[in-house]
Amino acid sequence: MIKSNTYEKICHQIAHSIKKLVNDSEFSVLGLATGSTPIGIYEQLRKMDVDFKKTLTYNLDEYVGLDESHPQSYKYFMNEHLFKHRKFHSNHFPDEKLFPYYDSMIDNSDGIDIQILGIGTNGHIAFNEPGTPRDSKTHIVDLTENTIKDNSRFFDSIDEVPTQARTMGIDTIMRSKEIYLIARGKHKKEILEEAIYGNITPEIPASFLQEHRNLKVYYSD
Ligand code: GLP
Repeated sequence: MIKSNTYEKICHQIAHSIKKLVNDSEFSVLGLATGSTPIGIYEQLRKMDVDFKKTLTYNLDEYVGLDESHPQSYKYFMNEHLFKHRKFHSNHFPDEKLFPYYDSMIDNSDGIDIQILGIGTNGHIAFNEPGTPRDSKTHIVDLTENTIKDNSRFFDSIDEVPTQARTMGIDTIMRSKEIYLIARGKHKKEILEEAIYGNITPEIPASFLQEHRNLKVYYSD
């Protein structure tokens, strides 16, 4: 079921769930997302009194070919919005070095407790583009024209948008113990509804989430 609320309330609720997990657990593992949608959650987390020193993070994805000093790299993004403000046990990205081991690393950390997810206008989750199989693990993808166009708003020109990325697979994401999917903006409403109420199909990667036991879906205008 899709719960609609204001963006602020959604971010507040999710940040509180994260706070509760971290405070109630000896050790916790978060799966984190980039894009404009989760920024409000990170803002809330920065304000909260939570000690993340026993929390590990795994980010969903990272562009191929962007150095971490590039303002549009996802490492840079996470650093700006959260990691430079709060000290964690460790923060991981599916970069060139780690991506072959990413799924084993997550398993060895006993899995992701809470995974934050946004959705692309083509129904992608992380960078799992339409056509990605259900059993996919962390892998390299060729970004679709639609995604390159959507993400060009963050770059000076469309030619600067990387054409490939490394991303957790659908199976990697589905193994998370709890998933929070958020969509913000009227342009996301239709694809969100199709993903959550329509047929489960690789053509809409987010539709696989319907099979997750512990999924919460939020929408704000
Ligand atoms: C990118 C990311 C996704 C994100 C999507 C939506 O392509 N790889 O993880 O969900 O964009 O971004 P936004 O929240 O800015 O609409």
